[in-house]
Amino acid sequence: MYAQMVKSEATQEDPEKLAAFQARIDAGEKIEPKDWMPEGYRKTLIRQIGQHAHSEIVGQLPEGNWITRAPTLERKAILLAKVQDEAGHGLYLYCAAETLGVSRDELTEMLLDGRMKYSSIFNYPTLNWADMGAVGWLVDGAAIMNQVPLQRTSFGPYSRAMIRVCKEESFHQRQGYDAIRKMAEGTPAQKKMAQDALNRMLYPSLMMFGPSDKDSVHSEQSMRWKIKMNTNDELRQKFVDQTVPQAEFLGLTIPDPKLKWNEERGHYDFSEPDWNEFHDVIRGNGPCNTDRLAARNKAWEDGRWVRDAMLAHARKKAARKIAAE
Ligand SMILES: [Fe+2]
Ligand SMILES: [Fe+2]
Repeated sequence: MYAQMVKSEATQEDPEKLAAFQARIDAGEKIEPKDWMPEGYRKTLIRQIGQHAHSEIVGQLPEGNWITRAPTLERKAILLAKVQDEAGHGLYLYCAAETLGVSRDELTEMLLDGRMKYSSIFNYPTLNWADMGAVGWLVDGAAIMNQVPLQRTSFGPYSRAMIRVCKEESFHQRQGYDAIRKMAEGTPAQKKMAQDALNRMLYPSLMMFGPSDKDSVHSEQSMRWKIKMNTNDELRQKFVDQTVPQAEFLGLTIPDPKLKWNEERGHYDFSEPDWNEFHDVIRGNGPCNTDRLAARNKAWEDGRWVRDAMLAHARKKAARKIAAE
């Protein structure tokens, strides 16, 4: 009874409209920006798409760090193209969020003052060139695992953005795996760098799927609304099952003494990520949180004159048009 009261107070929505909305989702229809939607759906999507957009933008920083130090011209061109793709992903996603009634400026301000989050993985540093391989292989790999099901999400603009994004992510993962393979097949020193990159990146990548299902707050409703298609633990397991043979092929060791194939489950058993570390990084105490936000704040300030100039130009143009009429 209490739960019911809380629920109806929290949503305050017309039950008939709610039922019709849910029926559309259950029938596999897409919800478009001008359609009626419950406030909770709108808010959850703004948070989810906004965080996703911010992750694409902040995610450029750890890789941007290596563009000037790529070992060959070819690797530099690949990395540059990949980082530019991430900027594009951020822009599609901000556009998708804008159709829900929030502006890109508002979202950016919420990122810059810490009211909105981005994926905790980007608060870890990239320390050697093999990290570029590990990021593409594991971080983009985990991103794809999250994003492929979202191509079927109920909100039209988000689903369409994901289709485009996933095509590019697949190139990101392959370039990463290729870069780390080159290191793993290289000199003993290069192989050591590859192993070190895997050791540092694996667990932060496993954390990208979010907290364990038993602690995940928004899952159930989001799954009913089809803005979340799988549980965090399902995707994490799928990612581990995919990654282990890939590491074996490279001759690298998964840094988990408990890793073991479980015949009965048909999956690998593995140690859970350190959730204290996860929450600590989300709270702002990861190795690079301060740097990442400082870099984005600086970029926003440095670009202010461009935004101001474009607005001034647009206003003059509009005024001239009115004067001519
Ligand atoms: Fe991306
Ligand atoms: Fe990517």
